Amino acid sequence: MPVPAPAPAAPVAPAPARTIEITANDQMRFSVTRIEAAPGERLTVVLRNIGVLPKTVMGHNWVLLQSTANPMIYSAAAAGAGLAGDFIPAEYNSQVIVHTRLLGPGEMDTVEFTVPSTPGEYPFLCSFSGHVGTMRGVLVVQ
Ligand code: CO
Repeated sequence: MPVPAPAPAAPVAPAPARTIEITANDQMRFSVTRIEAAPGERLTVVLRNIGVLPKTVMGHNWVLLQSTANPMIYSAAAAGAGLAGDFIPAEYNSQVIVHTRLLGPGEMDTVEFTVPSTPGEYPFLCSFSGHVGTMRGVLVVQ
């Protein structure tokens, strides 16, 4: 008699992503500047622009960079991309882990991603021109 095939192992349901809510305001501040996570953890970042100033002068995004990237250099390149390019310079995409879209007042965006498997400090910033000075932080993977 044929040996019955073993029942397939039950699939392991992926753990739901942990949600980090971040606001950005007209004073050019993020409400969260330090995020701690485990290697390979799934995270959802919800960015809300709670300001009232127009996107053309006070837009905000959230850009997470590789640990080796320099946020000041990235920001300078982003200024070159300008508003028309959502301050996301395509030539630097290899330095970007994930980013939201550029938000105007009252807007929100959500991104879900896998935290890098390599422990370290991963900088994040708002890449709108001139915002990196006050709108930056770090994802600490440990
Ligand atoms: Co900003």
